[in-house]
Amino acid sequence: MSKNLILIGFMGVGKGTIARALSQKSGIFAIDTDDLIESLENRKIKKIFKKEGEEYFRKLEKKTAKWLEENVKNTIISTGGGFFKVENIHKIGTVIYLKSSFEAILKRIKEHPNAKNKLKKRPLLKNMKKAKKLFEERTSQYEKCADIVINVENKEIDKIVKEIMEKTGLQKRD
Ligand code: S3P
Repeated sequence: MSKNLILIGFMGVGKGTIARALSQKSGIFAIDTDDLIESLENRKIKKIFKKEGEEYFRKLEKKTAKWLEENVKNTIISTGGGFFKVENIHKIGTVIYLKSSFEAILKRIKEHPNAKNKLKKRPLLKNMKKAKKLFEERTSQYEKCADIVINVENKEIDKIVKEIMEKTGLQKRD
């Protein structure tokens, strides 16, 4: 593999979890755009939203996208839920949309042992009505952006990883 794999999808769908599982199976390193932004800014996403607002955060996503295009290859990249809107996403790599219903995503977050923190760190999940609206707006946009769509609802991580490996030709590590 030399093309990057980019995981997109709504907040809490499991992009980071799947990226790490893929990494373990394939031996290919995984990075996360929110992590990159947090280190670049040396503060948490929540703080960036609070102090500078969403627009500033979106600029950081664009900067990250440019850096990824110019510097990163052969890597699994998980992204924040709004990252797919960067113009150059298809120049970064193959885009994989992890698809699930809003209800299943909420269930996944709530059942997490650290559920409180999962909700707290995501400013756009603070208001459930708004989050649902955002989900509805984005669903067709994710589909349109995706090279590959993977339905992850009610599926074991191993099964999802297997499906992604089959569809992308990603090989198991030796
Ligand atoms: C966002 C999703 C978050 C994070 C930021 C904005 C979004 O990432 O990038 O809070 O616009 O959907 P996760 O998808 O990892 O929660």
